[in-house]
Amino acid sequence: MTRPSWTIRPKGERDAEAVVTLLAEIAREGNYFATEWPFDVHERARLMRDALLTRRSVGWIALDGRTMIGDLTVVDVSQEEPEIGMMVDAQHRGRGIGRALLACAIAWAGANGKPALSLRVFPDNERAVALYRANGFVEVELQPAAIPRRDGPARDAIVMRRPVTPRDAP
Ligand SMILES: CC(C)(COP(=O)(O)OP(=O)(O)OC[C@H]1O[C@@H](n2cnc3c(N)ncnc32)[C@H](O)[C@@H]1OP(=O)(O)O)[C@@H](O)C(=O)NCCC(=O)NCCS
Repeated sequence: MTRPSWTIRPKGERDAEAVVTLLAEIAREGNYFATEWPFDVHERARLMRDALLTRRSVGWIALDGRTMIGDLTVVDVSQEEPEIGMMVDAQHRGRGIGRALLACAIAWAGANGKPALSLRVFPDNERAVALYRANGFVEVELQPAAIPRRDGPARDAIVMRRPVTPRDAP
């Protein structure tokens, strides 16, 4: 078996600018996030840096060499069932990076006594829904018109939940 060329490590505040640049690229590519392009990249990076520095948020990044190719963020660690958001660069999808990032978040939740992780996904994002289902997430709610759009009607979102136990800890 060949070794993957990518690596994963915890996200630090110095990664914020590169993560937000990747977010901007993927927000331009398609309709995957609540966040729509254009947005203020520097302000968004400042908020991410601040959330990481104050430990309100944690995350992991995937790197190909020194290039940022993936990110998973636990948005607010103080939530009982914290919400996550994730993305992988278009050229690197389907190589297990999403699965590996999710494994980090699930292990973190297990080690930190969280009963579950949650997320919201657009119903037509089949790749993401398949990845989440394959990793133990279950659809719990359809939220009609939950995500506002600048140029049209608000979009429905599916809430998915992944139960976590201490056995998920590393
Ligand atoms: C969703 C996303 C993070 C998945 O990352 P990834 O690195 O491609 O995921 P992986 O390679 O680990 O896993 C892909 C899984 O998705 C599924 N999948 C892969 N290609 C698929 C396709 N074309 N259609 C449907 N499902 C697919 C499979 O279940 C696969 O699991 P397997 O490896 O066991 O077969 C990535 O596609 C992405 O960044 N998309 C754009 C941003 C986004 O949608 N973010 C999530 C918002 S809720």
